[in-house]
Amino acid sequence: MDINIAVVPVAGLGTRLLPATKSQPKEMLPVGRKPVVQYVIEELTRVGMKRFLFITGPGKTSIENHFDLNPELIQLLRETGKEDLLAKFEYERMPVQYFYTRQRQLLGLGHAVSCAEPFVGDQPFVVALGDSIIGLHAQSDVVQRMTECFVRNRAAAVIAFEQVPLSEVHHYGIARPKNGASDVFEVADVIEKPSAQEAPSNLAIAARYVFAPSIFAAIKRTRPGKGGEIQLTDAIRLILQGGGKVYGIRLSDEERRFDIGNFDAYFRAFVEFALADEKHGAALRQFVEQWLNDHHS
Ligand code: UTP
Repeated sequence: MDINIAVVPVAGLGTRLLPATKSQPKEMLPVGRKPVVQYVIEELTRVGMKRFLFITGPGKTSIENHFDLNPELIQLLRETGKEDLLAKFEYERMPVQYFYTRQRQLLGLGHAVSCAEPFVGDQPFVVALGDSIIGLHAQSDVVQRMTECFVRNRAAAVIAFEQVPLSEVHHYGIARPKNGASDVFEVADVIEKPSAQEAPSNLAIAARYVFAPSIFAAIKRTRPGKGGEIQLTDAIRLILQGGGKVYGIRLSDEERRFDIGNFDAYFRAFVEFALADEKHGAALRQFVEQWLNDHHS
């Protein structure tokens, strides 16, 4: 079974990043040299995704522009002797197709995923949040491990999980593994934003999913939860309650999730990617070390 459709929700308002996100999507914020969503698409293209459906909303057209071909700009670079910049546009030529649909009401991530139903039909598909990079410079093949697990186990869903400190579990959907956690494990339940005491593990849902089309029926049966939103985690619970098999894949240490949803995480991600930049990283490191030395009180 070839799973090659990825649904990328990017419709959220990004209120935690205001005012940076007042007139530009958070998914277009740069982390190092590229906007967040470009890392997401490159990661998924490397593991064989061929068709991308963005779930967009008002104010998100710069995402569509970013993945368009831009022959005039390329021509201009050639004419002005800036051929060395042409490599920066290689992503435009990746052998994939882009599709866009609007989430006409912001009713939550579960609702955003349900907007993909007419496109996806009865095939399994990947969901990748457009505001999260997996691994430094997106060097992760976790989605490939997930699709393999999905097929091998005839699963209804496979979810990527990241280990987080117990003090952080209240921000995330947390797994209750069936027989203890290993790199691949069966999920008995997922608990949305538990307290540290209630949390059944420290494994947090990490922005990548593979779903059978049965998720759409589960989303339809999901009642609005926190903030009146239709939560994807609640739909996953319905699948579990109906006897569907859900598996978890643990991200490795090299596959840390960079969630660009708040300033603390965004600043850290930017610094880490910039410090690892091939050309400018070493000089930036020197500058930061010097600056920290000079300003040490
Ligand atoms: P978040 O949970 O970070 O929500 O979305 P948000 O609305 O973008 O940000 P805040 O909370 O206002 O700061 C996670 C991902 O799901 C998408 C977002 O675009 C983001 O990529 N999303 C969320 C939707 O597409 N639709 C929704 O209704 C909610």
